[in-house]
Amino acid sequence: MTFDVSRRSFLKGSAVAAGAAAFGLAACAPTGTEAASTAEPAASTAAASGETELIAQAYVNPQDYDYRANTTDFATLLSPFSIGGHEFGNRMAKSAAGSATYLAGYTDEMYEYYMNFARGGVELIGMEGEAFAMPAEGEVPAEAVDFFKKLTADAAEYNSRFFFQWAPFGLPVDEESMPVEMIKGIETAGVALAKQIKDMGFIGIEINAAGFNQGEQFLSRFHNTRTDEYGADSIENRARFVVECIQQIKEACGSDFFVQVLIDCVEEYDDIANGATLMTLDSDFTAKRTKVTSVDEGIALAKEFEKAGADSMHLRLGPLGNHPCQFASDLYFIVNGVEGATGYGTQFNFGRHFGGELVGNHSGAGMLFNIAKRYKEELSIPCGIVTYMDPAHAPDYFEQALADGCADYYLMTRPLTVDPEYVNKIKDGRLDEIAPCTRCLHCHAGSNEMNRAMSYCRVNALTQRVMTENGPATYELEPAAEPKSVMVVGGGPAGMEAARIAALRGHSVSLYEKSGQLGGLLAFASLVKGPHENLDDLRAYLERQCELAGVDVVTGTEVTAETISETNPDVLILACGGLRDELQVDGADVFAIEDYMEATGDNIVVYGSNEQAIDVAMWLTVHKKNVTIVTPSTNDEVDMQQSQHAKRFMTTTFAALGVRIIPEASIESVADGVMKVYSADFDATVSVACDSVVNAADMLPNKSLLDGFAGESYSIGDCEAPFNIALAIRGGNDVGRAI
Ligand SMILES: Cc1cc2nc3c(=O)[nH]c(=O)nc-3n(C[C@H](O)[C@H](O)[C@H](O)COP(=O)(O)OP(=O)(O)OC[C@H]3O[C@@H](n4cnc5c(N)ncnc54)[C@H](O)[C@@H]3O)c2cc1C
Ligand SMILES: Cc1cc2nc3c(=O)[nH]c(=O)nc-3n(C[C@H](O)[C@H](O)[C@H](O)COP(=O)(O)O)c2cc1C
Ligand code: SF4
Repeated sequence: MTFDVSRRSFLKGSAVAAGAAAFGLAACAPTGTEAASTAEPAASTAAASGETELIAQAYVNPQDYDYRANTTDFATLLSPFSIGGHEFGNRMAKSAAGSATYLAGYTDEMYEYYMNFARGGVELIGMEGEAFAMPAEGEVPAEAVDFFKKLTADAAEYNSRFFFQWAPFGLPVDEESMPVEMIKGIETAGVALAKQIKDMGFIGIEINAAGFNQGEQFLSRFHNTRTDEYGADSIENRARFVVECIQQIKEACGSDFFVQVLIDCVEEYDDIANGATLMTLDSDFTAKRTKVTSVDEGIALAKEFEKAGADSMHLRLGPLGNHPCQFASDLYFIVNGVEGATGYGTQFNFGRHFGGELVGNHSGAGMLFNIAKRYKEELSIPCGIVTYMDPAHAPDYFEQALADGCADYYLMTRPLTVDPEYVNKIKDGRLDEIAPCTRCLHCHAGSNEMNRAMSYCRVNALTQRVMTENGPATYELEPAAEPKSVMVVGGGPAGMEAARIAALRGHSVSLYEKSGQLGGLLAFASLVKGPHENLDDLRAYLERQCELAGVDVVTGTEVTAETISETNPDVLILACGGLRDELQVDGADVFAIEDYMEATGDNIVVYGSNEQAIDVAMWLTVHKKNVTIVTPSTNDEVDMQQSQHAKRFMTTTFAALGVRIIPEASIESVADGVMKVYSADFDATVSVACDSVVNAADMLPNKSLLDGFAGESYSIGDCEAPFNIALAIRGGNDVGRAI
């Protein structure tokens, strides 16, 4: 294996800094963590360095990963702040996020889900609109009232308080679809809701006027086509619906009940392909979507909300019409080497889009700092910001941004759902114990095999799953009824998770790893995928957890059938990863996937289309190879191990870069640099330029070490059924709980 190739470390320099300089903006991204500012376009900077081995797209938004220092005492992050007279002891709040709580109903599981945030030190918890069903007539069901009264009272014991997000889905607001009486009816329903949740112990409400929600339909010059007093011809009229909601809720609920407004603080239409047809009608239609809300307009709207009595603002990025891109900080960075990929096969230059004001060179972290600062400078109410606001990830960077006045507080969802004890661990200085969010988006509702009906977290095998029938019954770890000696074979994510859970329950656990260090395929995956998914952090976290749980870790030892019979544990857990098959192709050199960097020639066939194949194919493409993906799998099966969002961004980027995926394929022959491939999907044989082949075929199960062992045994992760990290960790967690 050759892992020592420096990837894109030379690609420093900030397209955003360049953009910001060009627009004359006062940047808020903390000094010292931002890459060197230059007025030269990023591509020129890279070209001038003499490094030309990457495709041009890699130079559009160069990344600077050197922003993760930890020398801080979190003085600002852990200082108090208040909203509407309610004081909180730190500046990390849970943003409202539908997390399958509705599947649980008003049960212990749902109660524990929220209480875990309270126990973990989160003092302000946003509850999503889907947590209970509002019947049409606007009465919250009695059982919900009792449930939430108890929850809010119990959370208060930890100084934790709740706000509720009112998020009516955005109906069209043209005069015909929504007469004024209907607008008034929606406002009345909001007020009725606010009064009821106040009675249930919530201290405030958030009006979701972002994304697809009702408020945004009024605020948006694109969605709002009215010409009356709620129309889009003036800031006052655009703001009127939200303003009236604020005023009426404040009047009905009193000044101690806070109203926060969530908006798209800057919008941009990211389908810059304009529908990609040459028909005038389509062009007319898509052109309208350029009517996005700019930062200046957003600030003007926010001033109206402040005047109306709003207590705080919640700022989020809003690619117009693209709901998943509320996760822009991840999706725009998920394609390693083509940062700024839009998911439509085009690419943003962050120096020139979103007003050139996004922090686009830190892999999405703190992307809204500069924009939020502009809001804060114009408003006197507190401003919170969301998405990849993760102080544990880059302590100095996130602390300094608060100290510099980029925002008053961070709203967070995924870091807190991965680790509900996040805030307390920060307070205690136990950063190495925080489970990292790996930005993969498996948690966001999806449609592939992995997250088809239900989404759940890649790293925290409990959150969301506890609410489903297939998940563990409780977040609690039951002590083992009878302590056993447990031998875990393989130190990848599956083995480490199984070992730590079993040890925490009181079992005596030894974890054997044949290589010199724990992590399994994570190091290789991280090398290929780049730093965005924080897989090195995941490895370090799991390793530290094993240490804390008292797992006896034995590296550099390959377990054999003899070792197992000599050790004779009570329980054997096999987590030794999948097997790779040989691939024989007459007429072409075949390289094992581990040797992908050594593949010869310019034209490379990647054989396979699982996540490993896809990531390797992207790496080779970014490194100027002409790649064709030839796979026995069907189109639907391509890259199904990643979240549906990642898959969509990957596959559109491949298409844009000219990479062809040939599904249901069998290789017929290779001669003179040409591969003949029959595709059952195409029902045709096609010719593919091929100098060499990288074998990235699906791995095979690998369970032979179980043979002959008579005791309690399990196989988990890739050795049971090769798939992905989420299933590996899930398997480890379930088995750790089962023994
Ligand atoms: C390039 C690449 C990209 C990837 N991209 C993604 C992605 O985007 N999303 C995703 O979810 N997954 C991805 N993966 C896959 C993911 O890394 C694996 O699914 C996951 O690591 C499986 O975990 P595991 O613990 O089951 O097995 P492994 O991670 O394979 O760990 C098994 C461990 O067992 C050890 N071992 C084997 N035999 C023995 C023995 N006899 N004695 C002692 N130790 C032994 C091995 O050395 C290894 O450390 C990617 C992988 C690669 C290589
Ligand atoms: C599973 C899931 C469901 C979400 N549901 C909502 C929602 O109901 N309302 C909302 O405003 N945001 C919702 N979000 C967005 C989050 O509130 C937050 O803006 C987003 O996760 C980015 O922040 P993070 O990087 O801290 O996770 C959801 C996010 C996730 C992961
Ligand atoms: S599924 Fe991935 S993105 Fe979502 S919370 Fe878990 S680690 Fe983070």
